[in-house]
Amino acid sequence: FAARQASKSVFGAVQRRTFSATASNATKVAVLGAAGGIGQPLSLLLKLNPRVTELALYDIKGAPGVAADISHINTKSTVKGYEPSGAGIKECLTGAEIVLIPAGVPRKPGMTRDDLFNTNASIVRDLAKAAADACPEANILVIANPVNSTVPITAEVFKSKGVYNPKRLFGVTTLDVVRASRFISQLKSTDPATENITVVGGHSGATIVPLLSQAGYTLEGAERDEYIKRVQFGGDEVVQAKGGAGSATLSMAMAGARFAESLLKAAQGQSGVVEPTYVDSPLYKDQGVTYFASQVELGPNGVEKIHPVGEMSEFEQGLLEVCLKDLKSNIEKGEKWVKENM
Ligand code: NAI
Repeated sequence: FAARQASKSVFGAVQRRTFSATASNATKVAVLGAAGGIGQPLSLLLKLNPRVTELALYDIKGAPGVAADISHINTKSTVKGYEPSGAGIKECLTGAEIVLIPAGVPRKPGMTRDDLFNTNASIVRDLAKAAADACPEANILVIANPVNSTVPITAEVFKSKGVYNPKRLFGVTTLDVVRASRFISQLKSTDPATENITVVGGHSGATIVPLLSQAGYTLEGAERDEYIKRVQFGGDEVVQAKGGAGSATLSMAMAGARFAESLLKAAQGQSGVVEPTYVDSPLYKDQGVTYFASQVELGPNGVEKIHPVGEMSEFEQGLLEVCLKDLKSNIEKGEKWVKENM
């Protein structure tokens, strides 16, 4: 009960209305990169989620310590930490229904997400290989940046092993929606928990396209430009404020836990669960953009239905055009790299 209360207060009104089912299914959730800035609070929030029955925490260092700490929290789920030595990643992943990947290096001031490519591409590739071998049917939630490229990298790894299921691979873009909703509520003095701004495209800079018009809002001039910039580059505010000590971790943990919770609700039979997420998408394939974030209905098989982008203002249409161009090159970069470095 305590856990349910905690989850309620964490996820806000939209989630609260639907958070009533009890955890009936056994659900193992794995976090890869669990000892990091995102990994630790994300694991904590998952420990508070009664839908999770087993929490498997992996990192190249420190996961057993995080697991020991979190395991004392008085909720029913079991928690175990794994390191490269010993039982290792294979045991961590075996039987997992959801695998969250916040492993990798975060940005420092002045860096774009794409600057992380060289380091994170190989980390994600290796973790994807392990997941494709140990839990090919799990839902894979990629948090490691640049998400626009790390998702295609993961897909290519799964394809190379003959186990790719596009319905089970998600780039986590929830933080963009969280920010877009929070920032508009600050401008309009509304309750942020009741705002749910649709954000489409990808997860970096100009590829993040908030569709305010769909929520009935019109901003003009400098106010509009500042809002768009803040949503697209909100991560930079955190990177700068932390002064080199990392990027968004706590808000990202909340966003990742919210997305995992939505998947679990859908897996456990709840209908009408919709989250924005970056998936293998037909929406702009004809323009060479093979992955795209839009509102996606989740179900027991992962992606149930990919919603089209819907009505847009002329201004938003302009943002989308810039987004598609960038996204295409981010996707191609990931695919090219992984084919050369498989
Ligand atoms: P961090 O450096 O605090 O933690 C990363 C963790 O990954 C460390 O504990 C490290 O030991 C671990 N790690 C590194 N290589 C590994 C491997 N091969 N296997 C397992 N674990 C490994 O970084 P932080 O702040 O937690 O960020 C992680 C990633 O998430 C970064 O790439 C960051 O850019 C991204 N991020 C994504 C967001 C999104 O909205 N999708 C938002 C914020 C950050």
